[in-house]
Amino acid sequence: MSVGDAFDEWADDGRDREMEDEHWATAKQLLARMPVEPGDRVLDLGTGSGYAPRAISQAADAGLAVGLDASPEMVTNARSYTDDSDVGFLAGDFHQLPFESESFDHCVSMESFFFATHPEELLAELRRVLRSGGTFYCGVNYYQENHYAHEWADRIEPEMLLWSATEYRSAFQNAGFQLAEQSYVPDRDTEIPPESEFPTAEFETREQMVERYRELGTLLTVAVVP
Ligand SMILES: C[S@@+](CC[C@H](N)C(=O)[O-])C[C@H]1O[C@@H](n2cnc3c(N)ncnc32)[C@H](O)[C@@H]1O
Repeated sequence: MSVGDAFDEWADDGRDREMEDEHWATAKQLLARMPVEPGDRVLDLGTGSGYAPRAISQAADAGLAVGLDASPEMVTNARSYTDDSDVGFLAGDFHQLPFESESFDHCVSMESFFFATHPEELLAELRRVLRSGGTFYCGVNYYQENHYAHEWADRIEPEMLLWSATEYRSAFQNAGFQLAEQSYVPDRDTEIPPESEFPTAEFETREQMVERYRELGTLLTVAVVP
């Protein structure tokens, strides 16, 4: 099954909105850090429900916020969630971006980069479509140091890259980006029950849950086009 077909099923089951709810706690922090100025053009790779372009348009008054996704059903849903004329969605593969060179000021990607089958091609394309000084804010919860997420591989059909923080940095640098920042963005919204309620279905101890949400969280790598 292609990645587009797999996520078409998710979109049809309403899991696009579920992902939005799950990712928003850290995604909102990542989006708030982006240096988007009024009128800027911003691209979201693997947009899902399209919450990132919607938020960027509203909060930063971007000139255009575009969400790209391999799943046509995700794109159909994303279009239905907004009537903002500065927001657009299209179906496509992020390894071959259907945009002119240097046509975007910034790019964001939340929980999508690890679906790249050819990450070096994706990064070369991204470097092409971003202007000099443009930024790439890449957030992932599925990464080597976050051992709590490793089991996703058993239940998510498309292959996923399980890179470490170092591997993200190296790949971005090898693609010709400069690194601006790398950090762990904590999820402070997920409620952590008192000690007495452990073990839970997911965590043996409270310390594990604190590590998963408050210490590891989302790995953010920020790259800049020289
Ligand atoms: C886990 S979802 C994340 C969606 C959204 N960014 C969020 O935070 O909720 C990953 C998304 O990436 C998309 N995707 C995976 N591979 C892709 C590719 N090669 N090109 C474009 N989109 C892709 C999937 O269709 C899916 O909607």
